[in-house]
Amino acid sequence: MDTIIIRGGKPLVGTVEASGAKNAALPLLAAAILADGPVTYRRVPHLRDISTMMTLLAYQGAHVHFDDQSCLHIDTRPASKAEAPYELVKTMRASALVLGPLLARYGHACVSLPGGCAIGARPIDMHLKGLEAMGAHIEVDQGNVIAKAPRGLKGAHIVFDQVTVTGTENLMMAATVAEGETILDNAAREPEVVNLAESLRALGADIEGEGTNRIIIRGVSGIHEGEVEVIPDRIETATYLAAGIITNGDVTVTHAEPGHLEAFIARIRDAGVQVEIGEHSIRCRCNGPLVGVNIHTMPHPGFPTDLQAQFMALMTLARGTSIIRETIFENRFMHVQELVRMGADIKLDGNTAIVNGVESLSGAPVMATDLRASASLVLAGLAARGETRISRVYHIDRGYERIEEKMQKLGADIERHSGSETWMKGIMANG
Ligand code: EPZ
Repeated sequence: MDTIIIRGGKPLVGTVEASGAKNAALPLLAAAILADGPVTYRRVPHLRDISTMMTLLAYQGAHVHFDDQSCLHIDTRPASKAEAPYELVKTMRASALVLGPLLARYGHACVSLPGGCAIGARPIDMHLKGLEAMGAHIEVDQGNVIAKAPRGLKGAHIVFDQVTVTGTENLMMAATVAEGETILDNAAREPEVVNLAESLRALGADIEGEGTNRIIIRGVSGIHEGEVEVIPDRIETATYLAAGIITNGDVTVTHAEPGHLEAFIARIRDAGVQVEIGEHSIRCRCNGPLVGVNIHTMPHPGFPTDLQAQFMALMTLARGTSIIRETIFENRFMHVQELVRMGADIKLDGNTAIVNGVESLSGAPVMATDLRASASLVLAGLAARGETRISRVYHIDRGYERIEEKMQKLGADIERHSGSETWMKGIMANG
């Protein structure tokens, strides 16, 4: 397994380009199952999770390949397997995103029930309840979801008990070729959901209301071939901006979408960061320590849960106290004890973290536990005195494309030590 080693204390200065968004690309790739021709994807990031989704689609019989312009081509016409086995789903929960498209295309599907993960139980009961409302018969047997809809799916009015991003995406895809109209109420408003809806429409779907909490899908007979583009990764963008902030540097992220980060930008401005917004760029500078501010995570357009750990890293060095409340997942504080090992002053009280700013952090050997917690450890290591060694780096590779190269470009003293992940060789060999 790879290890990342950081010698902290250097201000990060310069410009990096945002990659395509992991959480937009994953449902977009699953949507190819619905298309009756090849789909070309621009701006797909080279990430472990993308590699897993490509492997899953190829397992089902699709032709999948990256070309030399880093475009991904998927043709599911040769596919015939309506399955997602445990061996693949266990490495990436988002594999559940193939359930709706498989059921819509084949009238049946067998998808391994995703287990929980470090940040919580993360059930998919709302996905299944929505498919049942559309006429599917669902049972769980030996850890697999067995779904059947021999007479096809029918439009339904579905009201989510709570906002679910992939639940909204799964059901939107299933409804695309269902008979009649489907209304999704209390739908997720994330930019990744909007990217999926706009892309499905470009391929022939009849969808409206994306970006609001009511999405209406009118079933069509099928969707066709075409080209789609993945939106910039807002979480990656904010992570690099946070790297500049925590090291008192000056970082600009280009090819970004400032409109997707309004809550984050508002809170770092409250903390004292100077933020310059361009059409597709964001620049952050700060003179001296930040001021502690409070946040609570919410569905979009609220403060993203995927930035909670990174924001906490910033607050460990801010003047005063910051109250951070995690309202989306029940166990998304795995980074706290690792940050405390680096000298942070953080107390936990249920889903709330009380962060008292300290003068400095000290480097230490720490362990990555989940994707965004790992990112917060990188940020802390960049600011800490001395050396930080982060183990289990495969968590980071799931969501950050070549993180050490991008950080080195900004002047960070960071390197990856061996264990040479074979998946990276595989994906690079693909294109
Ligand atoms: C998506 O996960 C993202 N993943 C997550 O990003 C992100 O943290 C999350 O949305 C919230 O924004 C992808 O898009 C691939 P949810 P998702 O369904 O869809 C509960 C990252 O770091 N729930 O919106 O799985 C659930 O347990 C990842 O990139 C049910 O109870 O999240 C959670 O408490 C981490 N039943 C809450 O709802 C369901 O059927 C929100 O989950 C579905 C969800």
